[in-house]
Amino acid sequence: MERSGSKEEVRQAVGAARREGKRVALVPTMGALHEGHLSLVRAACERADYVIVSLFVNPMQFAPGEDFEAYPRDLDGDLTLLAAEGADFVFAPSAETMYAPDASVTVDPGPLGAVWEGASRPTHFRGVCTVVAKLFAITSPALGFFGEKDYQQLQVVRRMARDLDLPVRVVGCPIVRHADGLAMSSRNAYLSADQRAAAPVLYHALRTAETLALGGETDTRALAGAMAETIAAEPLARIDYAAVVHPETLEPLDALDGPARAIVAAHVGATRLIDNMALVGGDGGEAKAGDA
Ligand code: PAJ
Repeated sequence: MERSGSKEEVRQAVGAARREGKRVALVPTMGALHEGHLSLVRAACERADYVIVSLFVNPMQFAPGEDFEAYPRDLDGDLTLLAAEGADFVFAPSAETMYAPDASVTVDPGPLGAVWEGASRPTHFRGVCTVVAKLFAITSPALGFFGEKDYQQLQVVRRMARDLDLPVRVVGCPIVRHADGLAMSSRNAYLSADQRAAAPVLYHALRTAETLALGGETDTRALAGAMAETIAAEPLARIDYAAVVHPETLEPLDALDGPARAIVAAHVGATRLIDNMALVGGDGGEAKAGDA
């Protein structure tokens, strides 16, 4: 496995791989890797011949007062895990390498970046789009791998690639969870033991909505209300939003009559957690009583 913080070196390595006819994939991460990240690396290794993993805690996607400084960092641990997965190249640049001191052009994520997570974190998706566009430009991947854990991020990046005609296919990968349902996240490390025990409430809320939907509930207000009630019943959690939205536009749906995504965000202590789940609309395709 090669490793470098230099844009030139990764460009050269990608150029050589491409000349050998290899299909190149990029897995962008902020490091402190866990099984969720590694599932993306495995998916990339299955679908591509040359897998680059980027490790970069992107200052631009953190607002002042957010957890940029506290964000967990473990370069040595990450390198050991990535070598074991068979990644070909680890790109771990410094902030000075990534951004010119007077860098001023950014990628506007549009309305998709202004809702939900964007409402709580107004500059977040501009930072994500800008760094992901730069990483795509530096590594020229045919495939880019992103987790459904950050469902809105996946949709925003997909839209960016489409709207800017970036020659990369954005591949979404399923959420990896702990045994108790909590979605794996680097930020789970911030939770105290009590908070960690309370944190699966987001997953429980999503499962409540899923169960109601499978039982035939199509009123999205009822589904969102049930998710909010589940979270309200956990004293250590404070809800930010719970909604049922269109899987691509992320607009709230009135009725569950097709593909949909249930999305939730809540604070557990000072830590903001997000989660989501696919919902299947209506009666799940089964014939209703009385249908011939
Ligand atoms: P980070 O939070 O490190 O996540 C890197 C990738 O891993 C993202 O695509 C994220 O959705 C995915 N991921 C994290 N936890 C996951 C889980 N439990 N199951 C499946 N996938 C999971 O997301 C970012 O970094 C940054 O915003 C980045 C895209 C790298 C841009 O800076």
